Amino acid sequence: MQLTRSGNENVSLRKRCPLLSFKDLGDERGKLVVIEGGIAIPFEIKRVFYIYDSDADVIRGQHANKISEFVLINVAGKSKVRITDGYEEFTVELDKPMTGVYIPRMVWKDMYDFSNDSVLLVLASTHYDANEYIRDYDEYLKIMEAENL
Ligand code: TYD
Repeated sequence: MQLTRSGNENVSLRKRCPLLSFKDLGDERGKLVVIEGGIAIPFEIKRVFYIYDSDADVIRGQHANKISEFVLINVAGKSKVRITDGYEEFTVELDKPMTGVYIPRMVWKDMYDFSNDSVLLVLASTHYDANEYIRDYDEYLKIMEAENL
């Protein structure tokens, strides 16, 4: 099922989920990437987690968050993120430690196609609260439509 907007297009989903490029402070000794909350990414970081050892055929995520914002970075290996708001959908391939994708609140994400060496780092704007996760896609679409998001 896909939602269709009745009014004018809002800012496109791609624009709302930009790729972020982080500065490389590396030198001849190696590379160094620094991510400061509120500076390199648009929120203060309250939680960090990382996903690794996920097989290529696994789909993770499969949720939207009522409150949390995220930045996803493959600090090693690669994976894909399918991003949708029910109206639009696009896929990002994450394969560079210096690049992340920003995911605002109320945006659905699926992570998949993990390489064997994938380490997917996730920065989050909140502490974990299971109640702010929407894990049922139909329920998500209903909320998106009802709240005119
Ligand atoms: P889940 O949200 O399914 O992971 P992903 O979105 O990466 O596929 O989380 C897996 C389990 O870990 C689930 O039982 C909830 C728990 N968890 C926490 O306790 N804290 C956290 O910050 C996260 C992301 C998950």
